[in-house]
Formats: sequence, C-alpha cells, structure tokens
Amino acid sequence: MIKNKFLFILFSVLFIFSCSDDEGADYIPPGNETPETIQASFTYTVSETDPHVLYLDNTTEGNGDFNSIWNYGLGGDNISDVPGLIEVRYDNEGEYTITLYVIFDGLTTTATQTIRVDENGICPNGFCGSGGSESLKAAATTFAVGTISRSSWLNAGGQHTEILKSEFNSITSEYEMKMNIMYPTQDSYDFSAADAIVGFAQANDMHVHGHALIWHNATPTWVENFTGTDAEFEAMVKDYITTTVTRYKGKVRSWDVVNEALDDSSGHPLRNSVFKQKMGDDYIKKCFQFARDADPDVLLFYNDYNMASSSTKRAAMFKLVDNLGDLIDGVGGQMHISYNGPSATQIQSLADGVVSRNLKLHFAELDIRANPDNDLTSLTNDRSEAQRAKYKEVVAIYNSIPLENKFALTVWGVRDNESWLIDFWGNPEWPLLFDSGYNKKPAYYGYLEGLQ
Ligand code: G3I
Repeated sequence: MIKNKFLFILFSVLFIFSCSDDEGADYIPPGNETPETIQASFTYTVSETDPHVLYLDNTTEGNGDFNSIWNYGLGGDNISDVPGLIEVRYDNEGEYTITLYVIFDGLTTTATQTIRVDENGICPNGFCGSGGSESLKAAATTFAVGTISRSSWLNAGGQHTEILKSEFNSITSEYEMKMNIMYPTQDSYDFSAADAIVGFAQANDMHVHGHALIWHNATPTWVENFTGTDAEFEAMVKDYITTTVTRYKGKVRSWDVVNEALDDSSGHPLRNSVFKQKMGDDYIKKCFQFARDADPDVLLFYNDYNMASSSTKRAAMFKLVDNLGDLIDGVGGQMHISYNGPSATQIQSLADGVVSRNLKLHFAELDIRANPDNDLTSLTNDRSEAQRAKYKEVVAIYNSIPLENKFALTVWGVRDNESWLIDFWGNPEWPLLFDSGYNKKPAYYGYLEGLQ
C-alpha cells in the first residue's frame, strides 16, 4: 500500500512538473470541478514584523487524501506543501502570481492569487498605494464617487448603509426616481421613496443624481395609454417635470432628463416612444426646457448606453446633444461594460467627445462583467485580476479628463449579488467592487489604482 501511495504521489508530482501550464491533461478549470474533485484554496497574510514576508495557508477542504503543490511565482520549482503556514520572502518589487495545485484521485484543481510588491514590501490586498485603507471618496478628490441604492436598503443599518456612508458621496436611485414610481396614476404623485433617498443623502452629506425623468422603460401604464389630446399630453409632461424638479430644487444636484432616447437600429433614430409620438421629435428639447425653467441651477444630463462601444450610436448621441445647445450640462455614458471590452481607445473617444463640447461627463452606471461569455461558474483569480485592470483603466480615463468636465463616476451597485446583470443575462456574474459578503474585491483596489 505504502509503495503504491509513494508511486501515486511521485506520479502526481511528476505530472505537475510536466504541465507547462494549467491546461494539463486532467486539468479541471476552476468552477468546473465535479463532486469527487477537491477545489484548491488558500489564503495569505503579510508578516506584521517583516513586510517582505508572506505566510501562505492551504485552506483546501475535502474528504480523502489529496496532495498539494505550491508555485510561489518566484520562478523556482514547484514545492510540496507541508502542514501549517508556509513562509515565503518577496524581496524584489513586482507582481507575483501564487498557485496552489491540489491533486486528488488523479484530478488537479488550482487556486491562484496575485500579490504586488513595492518599495515598502508586499502591498496589503494587492494594492500598492497611499495606504490602501482610505475610502474611494477620500481618494477621488476631484469628482463624486457614486453608487445606487433603494429606499428599503438605505436605513437598514447594515453593511450596505455603512459602505454607502464610508465609500461614496453621491447616490442615484436605482429605480425609485423614475416616472413609473413617482407618478403612478394621473391623479397622484408618490415621492415617498424619492424623499427617503434624498433625505438620506442630505443627512449624510451626499449628492443625489436624479435618474431619470423620462425613460421609455419606466413610463407609467396610464401615460403609455394616455387618451387625451397631444396638447394635454405635453401639458401633463410639463407638469410632471416641473413638479418633480421643483420639489427637489437645491437637494438634487442633477437629473437625467431623458434616458436612452436613441434606438439601436441602423442610423440610431429616436425610439418611437409615447413621448415622441405625442410631443414630436423635439420632445427631448421640450423636456430639457421644462426642467431648466423649474430649476436654473440643477445640472441637466442626457444618459444612454453603448456610448463607448458603438461609434455610430455615440455619433448619434452627440448630434442629439448638439441640438440641445445650452440647455444641457452633461452626458451620462452608462458604462455597462465587460472585462474584455470596450477598449480604452473606445472609452477615451466618449470622454474626448464630451470634453470637446465643454460638457460634464458622468460615467453613470459602471459595472464590469467578469463573465460575459458565461465560461465561469465562479470568479477565478485570473478573471478577477482582469476585472481589476479594467476598473483601473476606466477610472484612470475618467480621472484624466479636465477638472471642469468632471462630475461623477457612479458604479451600478454595491455588491455583486445585487447586480441587475444576473437576472438580465441569466448567468453567474460578479461585476461590482464588493463581493456578496461586502468584502472589497481586487476590482475595488483597481478603482483606487486608477486614481494614482
Ligand atoms: O423592490 C421591488 C420589490 O419590493 C417588488 O416586490 C418587486 C416586484 O414588483 O419589484 C421590486 O422593484 C424592482 C427593482 O428593479 C428592484 O429589483 C422594480 O420592479 C424593477 O422595475 C427595477 O428594475 C430596475 C430597472 O432599471 C427598471 O427601473 C433595475 O433595478 C435597475 O438596475 C435598472 O437600471 C437601468 C437604468 O435605470 C438605466 N440603464 C439600464 C439599467 C439596467 O436596466
């Protein structure tokens, strides 16, 4: 028995050394393990007495004998695991990927984590910056750091509320400041949820970005089925915008007056919404005028998606914006993107077009899909690091625009499991800065790195 076990371990170790990369013959990509495999996992801590020393802890769990092999990312041979913590020195500045291979029943699973070393030693959480313990809003000194929330979550008092207060200084209502919520019937407004959000923001010294006065996807049914004349329809819209903007004058810093007016079909015509049908093609300008008349100081935005990825839709947006003249203050690019696109060049093109028009730029609904091709069932380290790099890229582009064009960068959610993307696309997704346990992800540190 002993001999067989020795041969088994020898084969396994030889098997690992023979694999030029993770894709060995029996390699099981993370998240694709079958029940009988054992998933490698490990944690690390930086020595409190020597910042160049890392302690590795093999946290793999499973029934049965399995064999563990380390690669410390230092270019040396793989090392067999030993009981207890493993001490590794990283003296030279750079980025190192640590890999743990676990072999069980002839199958190998892996876990990888990336660390970074700067002149001060191993960077906490992989973030080599000023401390890394400061908040997003403290690090972003030239623009508002935004996210979304819901009235039911704001005062729940839990970690959601605490993170809102500690990390962000701008709040957008995910859905409760839209027409279908604020104006549910022709005879009544319901500002209760909006009031709660605005009240929370005022109590916590946060901006409110109003989203969105007019959106074809959040139009009340009674408006869609309006039976009056076109003139009566326009008067109703004017009353709604005037009432809403006036109510929050001095409390809401900015409004998306119109959201997603452009169709995705060839030439990007205006969507044939009930507003276009009953108020004409210039309904957008009319709505901006209603809002401007209600509050001369509020910042007025046009908001839409695929503004970076689609050059044709971006061009159509700029044509729409140019037609608004001085009625508009800024453009919201929603930034629902992926770890692998759109490119930095495409994102920069959006920024350049807004800046060249002397308008404010709002990266309004940033989330970065880690699983756009549905090839993952869990967030791997590699994909998490790629997502981190994309957050760094997007934040760096935003942070590089001129001060006068800066407004806010809003992420569309706090923690991964609350993202709209999961239901929308129907596959696992981890697009935000915090995981489902409210833990900062590498993406969070990528945001901070984008500010350096
Ligand atoms: O919270 C209530 C719940 O109490 C109720 O039981 C349930 C069923 O009625 O509804 C829940 O509210 C839903 C809310 O999402 C929270 O899940 C609303 O019905 C639903 O309409 C709302 O959808 C929002 C959607 O816009 C429409 O307003 C999404 O959260 C929100 O992420 C999404 O955001 C849009 C932006 O505004 C514009 N850009 C695209 C983006 C994604 O679609």
